Amino acid sequence: MDQDASEQIDWWGMLTDPGYLVDPHPHLRRIRELGPIHYDAPSDIYFVLGHEEFNSMVRSSRMGRDTRLWKNGWSRPESKQRDPLSYELFSEFQRQMVNSDQPDHRRMRDVYEKAFRPADIPPLRPMIEREACLLLEDIPEETPVDFMTVFANLFPLRVVRNLFHISPEMDPQLAEWNASLIKIGDIMMSQDQKQDALKALKGYKRFLKSHLEDQRGNPDNRLISLAIEAWDAGVMDQDETLNNLKGLVSGNETTVNVLGNGLLTLLNHPDQFDRLRTQPDLMRTAIEEILRFEPAINFILRVAIEDFESHGVSIPSGSLVLGLVGAINRDPARFAKAETFDVARRPNAQSIFGGGPHVCIGAALARLEVEVAFSELIRNFSKIELAGEPVWWTDRTNQRGLQTLPLRFSRR
Ligand code: HEM
Repeated sequence: MDQDASEQIDWWGMLTDPGYLVDPHPHLRRIRELGPIHYDAPSDIYFVLGHEEFNSMVRSSRMGRDTRLWKNGWSRPESKQRDPLSYELFSEFQRQMVNSDQPDHRRMRDVYEKAFRPADIPPLRPMIEREACLLLEDIPEETPVDFMTVFANLFPLRVVRNLFHISPEMDPQLAEWNASLIKIGDIMMSQDQKQDALKALKGYKRFLKSHLEDQRGNPDNRLISLAIEAWDAGVMDQDETLNNLKGLVSGNETTVNVLGNGLLTLLNHPDQFDRLRTQPDLMRTAIEEILRFEPAINFILRVAIEDFESHGVSIPSGSLVLGLVGAINRDPARFAKAETFDVARRPNAQSIFGGGPHVCIGAALARLEVEVAFSELIRNFSKIELAGEPVWWTDRTNQRGLQTLPLRFSRR
């Protein structure tokens, strides 16, 4: 680690800067050249930009995800007096697999993992294709439309609410709650955003509790049945059951970004888009490359449970570590021609789903959704063109996605 170089980086200024949020790659390239791990003294946070360093960290039992262990964190009991709203918000959503270390993490994850194994996902394809086709059918020809509004924002939400047998009438409410909750992943939240997220979280949990009761005894509702069985058997209490369900239902938000980022990346690389159109068997490698090249999130966190040593850097227990996925996914030490977008890239050890025990439980589902979406886009439309300037979200520091993507479609 180059301590002098690290001290010169204004991390918080950079990570929240609209220019960075529109295109982080030049900044990340420059910083990674200075070293794979950087310590920011003012915030007492370690930033990881190297592929090997990140992947060994997320797989280590010395590194966890329980932010109550973070010595400066909002969810520590001491912060109750200092910042009661943050403490209440974090306590409200703390108890779920993504925020837990072993053995609690495994206890909760085991309940749902049964429904997310790679073999459980292909049978969902007909439902996923139906939802994609319904939305694509309604896209007008030769008229500029915002792809995010007409497709990306709607499709993953519809898939996940079908999975949980939630009524379509709930779509607008789920979308509103998700929009409030997305801010929880940010490094900076205003008091209003915290208040808003707390209200959304409580609303979500109230709804899910009544949904569980409504669906009790419906054997076709696999995920809800798994949750009820575990709750009844005392494997999870009410708060854990509802928080984990909320995490699964709102997990689709990142897929929205992948759809927008992926289509824009293909449009910006017309040779690669043509290659995919003429060789549909490249779809799987193309999706991994989209996930690598323009990742849908900016960072993945860990908290050091014990002192940790990585490539000559000592990380004391209680430290927060943020893996910067945009840099990790383009680390030239791991990826040949890392800055080149290549839909046939193999191997492709991209890190957007994290790794180790917390690796995204919804990864196989997300991959299938993206595969269906791009296959159906190519099948339905002979031409897709930009019809205006895409606009990136610049008020979300963790999610990396498009607010609008104006496109013009020509049908086959
Ligand atoms: C392309 C879309 C997605 C991306 C990029 C993504 C990314 C991630 C990442 C980075 C993590 C944390 C991994 C770590 O810390 O090592 C995670 C965990 C998780 N994701 Fe996803 N995710 C996506 C889709 C989904 C979907 C569709 C669902 C729900 C069905 C979902 C549910 C979860 C859950 C419940 C966890 C916590 C797992 C654990 O802690 O054991 N995700 N995801």
